[in-house]
Amino acid sequence: MVVDCGEVLWISMIISRMVLCASQTCNGGRVYRRTYEWEEEQEEQLMAALARVQLDDGDDTWRWSWDKHGCFSVKSFYKELVNRARVQQNVSVQRFPFKVVWGVDILSKVQFFCMDISPWESPYCRQSVSQRNYGESMFPALFTVSSIEEWLLQWPVVTNHEWGSLVWKYLPYATLWTLWKTRNNKTFRNTEIGVERICREIKFTIWYWCSSWKRRKKYKYQDLEDNWTGVIRGLIGYV
Ligand SMILES: *[C@@H]1O[C@H](CO)[C@@H](O)[C@H](O)[C@H]1NC(C)=O
Ligand SMILES: *[C@@H]1O[C@H](CO)[C@@H](O)[C@H](O)[C@H]1NC(C)=O
Ligand SMILES: *[C@@H]1O[C@H](CO)[C@@H](O)[C@H](O)[C@H]1NC(C)=O
Repeated sequence: MVVDCGEVLWISMIISRMVLCASQTCNGGRVYRRTYEWEEEQEEQLMAALARVQLDDGDDTWRWSWDKHGCFSVKSFYKELVNRARVQQNVSVQRFPFKVVWGVDILSKVQFFCMDISPWESPYCRQSVSQRNYGESMFPALFTVSSIEEWLLQWPVVTNHEWGSLVWKYLPYATLWTLWKTRNNKTFRNTEIGVERICREIKFTIWYWCSSWKRRKKYKYQDLEDNWTGVIRGLIGYV
């Protein structure tokens, strides 16, 4: 018998919903509430799915229906969910720009964190015109985006120097991660640090993330602290 994992998944979701409904409404095993229309629809889907199941002799195997080779992949599942939303709700679902999170070689816990917070409001805090700074005139788009996702998408690519570019690439992720940890420390440990310490933590995080990069040994952490602009501009180190 070939069991289709995709269908099994939907069936099990439907069944668990039905069991839940039943357990909420059963009294001594008797369901006395009439089913809702949406439940009837699901029941029909379940029956239709079961009707296609054919039993025959032989070894049991699993097959993932939404991939042409029958193998499960997150991508195929994601595509199916997006298509379902489009067909059933008649809405076009915007696909998540996965490269800004999964395409960056940072720790996977940071990737998950960035994916979670990507719909949040962007980290730009609104300043008065007189407080606007150099960065804002250089990269105005970074200061007008509405979500973290857009902020990461707008982050300019810099390729002037191997180390400077890497530091620059990690910077938004290290900033988000450090702010999050600082906030947690404040909330749960009742410890608070100032802006300067936060900046140092960010630089240290970047340095730490660079440790899997072999050529890091050619560079010094101290330069991140002493000459940040020099590092970002690619003036530090070997060309
Ligand atoms: C889907 O939405 C579009 C525009 O929003 C509309 O023209 C179309 O009739 C809708 N289709 C269905 C099947 O509801
Ligand atoms: C949070 O607190 C821990 C324990 O005190 C400390 O090691 C860590 O550096 C702090 N992190 C930040 C970002 O402040
Ligand atoms: C940073 O490094 C560059 C290149 O070595 C140097 O020209 C510049 O003066 C340094 N700036 C500071 C503040 O040390």
